Amino acid sequence: MAHRWRNDLTRADVTPPGLWTDRRRLLVSGAAAAALGPAVAIAEERLEPNSFEEITTYNNFYEFGYDKTDPVRHAAAMVTEPWSVRVDGLVERPGEYALAELLEGLEAEERIYRFRCVEGWSRVVPWLGVELADVLERIGVRGEARYVAFETTVQPDAMPGVRRGVLDFPYVEGLRLDEARHPLTLLATGLYGQPLPNQNGAPIRLVVPWKYGFKSTKSIVRITLVAEQPPTTWSRMAPQEYGFYANVNPNVDHPRWSQATERRIGGGLFSRRQPTLMFNGYESEVASLYEGMDLSRHY
Ligand code: MTE
Repeated sequence: MAHRWRNDLTRADVTPPGLWTDRRRLLVSGAAAAALGPAVAIAEERLEPNSFEEITTYNNFYEFGYDKTDPVRHAAAMVTEPWSVRVDGLVERPGEYALAELLEGLEAEERIYRFRCVEGWSRVVPWLGVELADVLERIGVRGEARYVAFETTVQPDAMPGVRRGVLDFPYVEGLRLDEARHPLTLLATGLYGQPLPNQNGAPIRLVVPWKYGFKSTKSIVRITLVAEQPPTTWSRMAPQEYGFYANVNPNVDHPRWSQATERRIGGGLFSRRQPTLMFNGYESEVASLYEGMDLSRHY
């Protein structure tokens, strides 16, 4: 790819707690924040990852149930080896790819990203992954393709939520092709330098950091290139609440709650909510993808 996103954050870049507190204070006083713009920007770019425990014990993975602790309690039973991904639709090289074959020669790199759930909580995750763009290149996208659809495994024996039918499974999601090819978009295979825990979507899941977390399909078994916008689980369930784009936007409230602020997991029960950033803080990288679109309508 011509343009590669520079990964200039490492775990050595953690925010000194004082600086983080300063930023919060600065954000409270808008005028001071404006005057000290560059200082705020620097603090903002130094992300302190949540702990491994925080990332792996509070999850959404409805195949295992509704509760945030269902995934960690049940996901060990999911079979992740061997794993293959069916690649079909408008591609040059369709087929059933063993995971190792799909990723062969691509080196997973660490990306420390903000992660914002549509429910109003957030965290910072040190993912390990490859750019989806590189995998799309491998399978050969045909000219007529405009969207990529993703599908999650369905393993009723291991998945109480599937047995109870809490959603219409398989969980399906999709991206516009330019979003899928954006260098921020990852297929993650690990976090904290280790293979992905099952509850986080082992062995391979999508990560799209400027969108609400529900776009980030877990435990992917199928990637399909299509010409038309594909159906997605949450927009099918509640189209007035969850759109196809699902870009993080503090100015567009969910019909039942505000999206202006978020609760950072691990901050403690009484920690103050922090402002949600446009495109989850990735505005300068991705805003151009949506030029001319009414983001309050295409939510
Ligand atoms: N993928 C599948 N297959 N099933 C799900 O229920 N939940 C989504 C997303 N991907 C979900 C899924 C939602 S709502 C969120 S917020 C994230 O996964 C949570 O990812 P995490 O548990 O790794 O933080």
